[in-house]
Amino acid sequence: MNKSELKNYFLKNTPAEKVLTRKEVMTITESLGVKPRIGHMMLMSDFPEITKVSRGKYSFGEYSTPAPAPVATPAPTPEPVMNFEKSAPISLRSVSSVSDDEIYVPSKDATFIKWGEFSKLKKIIESKLFFPTYIAGMSGNGKTMMVEQACAILKREYVRVQISPETDEDDLIGGFRLINGETVFQKGPVVKAMERGCILMIDEIDRATNKIMCLQGVLEGKPILLKKTGQVISPAAGFNVIATANTKGRGSDEGRYTAASIIDDAFLERFVAVVDQEYPPYATERKILLANAKSFDVKDTEFIEKLVAWSNVIRKTFEAEGVDDVVSTRRLCHIIKAFSIFEDRMAAIKMCVSRFEEETREAFLDLYTKIDESTLDENGEVVGETNAAGDNVEVTVDEDGKFVAPF
Ligand SMILES: Nc1ncnc2c1ncn2[C@@H]1O[C@H](COP(=O)(O)OP(=O)(O)O)[C@@H](O)[C@H]1O
Ligand SMILES: [Mg+2]
Repeated sequence: MNKSELKNYFLKNTPAEKVLTRKEVMTITESLGVKPRIGHMMLMSDFPEITKVSRGKYSFGEYSTPAPAPVATPAPTPEPVMNFEKSAPISLRSVSSVSDDEIYVPSKDATFIKWGEFSKLKKIIESKLFFPTYIAGMSGNGKTMMVEQACAILKREYVRVQISPETDEDDLIGGFRLINGETVFQKGPVVKAMERGCILMIDEIDRATNKIMCLQGVLEGKPILLKKTGQVISPAAGFNVIATANTKGRGSDEGRYTAASIIDDAFLERFVAVVDQEYPPYATERKILLANAKSFDVKDTEFIEKLVAWSNVIRKTFEAEGVDDVVSTRRLCHIIKAFSIFEDRMAAIKMCVSRFEEETREAFLDLYTKIDESTLDENGEVVGETNAAGDNVEVTVDEDGKFVAPF
């Protein structure tokens, strides 16, 4: 059965008002003797008669879009930081930093591969200008590592703040702590970074609630008032803010990042640059995995090749809506680590994909088995394409038969 025969079958046999899920499409395809995933991908390749109702849901007739849900009105912008609230000034001697161990120059990671927007990010950090930057992209594609390694290479100090829905002004700016039996004001990481003129990395900023609005002034490069002590802190030269997030603060429509919050527009406006980070391209991810394999003393380069091909196929299948999730670069590195312990390809993969829901996990394992049997699928499409994309990268093996990563 070819593409258009398959399409006609669906058009003829699906009532106009019926919406089919991907699973139903695949079951029907399979009953017609076409491999389910391939059938699904054939159907999804631009037939105007097929309407995508939402992710993984399709209509094969005249589908009329339901009226859109009313848009929620955004929460009012809280008052700015620079409001000189009357609070009892306390002696500055009791403003303590306790320790500054969260400020440091991160150490260089031998497995780090520079790619994508790294050089731009490095230039921003190198400039020492105040240039708040927002890096958005899917989880586990190296956003945090990129900032950390840029600081490591430039020997710049940084402070990393991990955001969660619980994060508030007390965590960021500072608050009173009981130290040696005395209540003292302890400066938070943001204030420390400002005073020190270092890089403030706000990790996963889209996990925050409106409580992070207390950073509005900080993002403008203005001095801030420690309301609780009356002290005004001005940013020292070199201070800059870099935020990472999975979304651009508009929530996630696919349900993949359910914890992602909607960030106030006025707050997002303070970021000068927004960098989009995709998953690394085939050749880059291959380098990353080879470097990781080297660090875990994994010599099975064939396995690495298969892992890169596998992640590539999964991401293409995801784009074609054939699976609901993707494997991240981080997960691939976990698989290599697991392999270094168990020395069993399938065991390592299974262990590391067990967090996915059953259907996705099965699909991932199924795709891997195909790749590891070195068989092309019957259309010769997906796997073949991936191999071709990787052809231009060489694996070098040294005199001991050990591979040498190409960097
Ligand atoms: N450029 C890279 N070079 C080497 N390893 C990388 C690179 N990018 C990602 N990784 C691997 O993926 C992991 C996840 O990266 P991370 O920066 O934490 O992702 P994100 O912040 O985008 O969620 C890293 O710990 C590392 O093992
Ligand atoms: Mg991160």
